[in-house]
Amino acid sequence: MTQAVLETPLTERAPRELAILAARCAAGEAEIATTYFNSPARTLESDALWLEKQAGRELESTFTMLKEVMVAVGRNMGKDEQYWVNSIQDGIDRQWLEEFIFKIKQELNHGNHCVDILERITGEPANIAEIVRKYNRWEPDPTAPNNKEWCALAKLFREQETRTEPWAKLITSEGLLEGGSCGMFYAASLLKGDDLDDRIGSAFKIVLKDERGHGPANLFSVNKYIKTEEDLSGAKEMLRARAIGRLRMRNEQFGNPLSSRRLEELMDGDVDLGVVRAIWGDAPYRYVTMH
Ligand SMILES: [Fe+2]
Ligand SMILES: [Fe+2]
Repeated sequence: MTQAVLETPLTERAPRELAILAARCAAGEAEIATTYFNSPARTLESDALWLEKQAGRELESTFTMLKEVMVAVGRNMGKDEQYWVNSIQDGIDRQWLEEFIFKIKQELNHGNHCVDILERITGEPANIAEIVRKYNRWEPDPTAPNNKEWCALAKLFREQETRTEPWAKLITSEGLLEGGSCGMFYAASLLKGDDLDDRIGSAFKIVLKDERGHGPANLFSVNKYIKTEEDLSGAKEMLRARAIGRLRMRNEQFGNPLSSRRLEELMDGDVDLGVVRAIWGDAPYRYVTMH
């Protein structure tokens, strides 16, 4: 590290350095999805697969968050007759509950959009339980086709979720890389031209708008969590491992349009981060260019 870098206060460097890593992941996801959308390998069948896999993540996160609400609200909610207002937990955080329920509604909406388009493509009702079983974020089905990287990422998610450092929250499941920091959503939001692309484009415009408030919005609280040089280097290491795992997972979701070498290059910084301004919007993007 040069003297000039060390003289920059941690409160400036921490959000910038984490923003740059998250931005590489966002730009990488956008490159993967855009390459796929423009490639002759794109078929109705491959579209059905990436949408089904995306539906798995969106719907599973909906149900996972609903469980958190159930745990927070009631002591004995295993059976419907056990739920009544006299089971409400003491000291429930009403503001948290309102924001969290709003987020659950958004994730369900993302999942529903994916399933609606999937059903249009296949012409059959989708089996939600089966989609979530195969493509959830924690224990996806290793025997499902094209699911190797999905399972590898799930293993990393499970490991990272056990980290106890307060700053780990910036990286784990609702952290900076939630939704891949919006890269794939952005690429999908640009689709238009025929009935299918118009549907995908408008659905993912909604996903992108919501998810800007999930992943990238964590940049605004970096200084709440990163207090020392060790915190920052720990967070960067964890973020990088997650980002490369995510890029491999996304690449697999779209039939591996990029080489594994290209994925490494993306995380090493061989990518123009200018596109991230369009992906994240101006306010979070400012951290990438801050000097
Ligand atoms: Fe989502
Ligand atoms: Fe989200």
